[in-house]
Amino acid sequence: MKVIKVKNYEEMSNVAAEIFKDVVKNKPNAILGLATGTTPLGLYAELIKDHKENGTSYKNIKTVNLDEYAGLDIGSDQSYVYFMRHNLFEGLDIDLKNTNIENGKAEDKEKECERYNNLLGEMQQDIQLLGLGSNGHIAFNEPNTPFGSGVHVVKLTENTIKDNSRLFADINDVPRYAFTMGIKNIMNAKKIVVLASGKNKANAVKASVEGDVTEIVPASVLQLHPDCTFIVDEDAASLLK
Ligand code: GLP
Repeated sequence: MKVIKVKNYEEMSNVAAEIFKDVVKNKPNAILGLATGTTPLGLYAELIKDHKENGTSYKNIKTVNLDEYAGLDIGSDQSYVYFMRHNLFEGLDIDLKNTNIENGKAEDKEKECERYNNLLGEMQQDIQLLGLGSNGHIAFNEPNTPFGSGVHVVKLTENTIKDNSRLFADINDVPRYAFTMGIKNIMNAKKIVVLASGKNKANAVKASVEGDVTEIVPASVLQLHPDCTFIVDEDAASLLK
């Protein structure tokens, strides 16, 4: 595992953008594993800027997203499908048909998990982007998720509901369930980049990078990945040795 310490959010986003641009330029039909949350917004803005200024093309790029809330309408501005369109895809020349995410409105949840798991089996990520939950979760794999898990439905922890409620009008509007790639699907990526910024991620960064590899801290599994890079700003790195 490699750790790149940077000064602030902006630098974190720029360093990550360089890595993503390299992947896209070297492999124009690459499969990108993407994430939501506030952390990747700066990276996404950089990729859009680069596309507009330098013409980096996403025409043949395919994407798979980590997770999606269960039950939200597709048109809801809180859904992750909306987030991705609004914050990245609409700013690129990507074909929306090449973008994939779990269907949060699927009636048969088990079947939807199976569909997405099979899809991921055919679409190994050339690079997978991750943010970190303050409890060390990755995607929506909450503490104690088995490392061997595939796509599944999770009941979100109170901690995550509280963290994510800042993006909703009311905490009661936060969905209680979500679809997520499992740890196994994430670990299958050829390359993984984890972004963390801010003091509220410092504990999770320390536990993931320097702690034991344990299912209690889902992101600690990344220590076992052959090509994983954490890009952390000063605040998020503040508890590292
Ligand atoms: C959600 C997402 C995660 C994300 C996390 C952190 O729980 N499912 O993929 O990493 O939030 O979000 P933020 O980047 O806003 O701190």
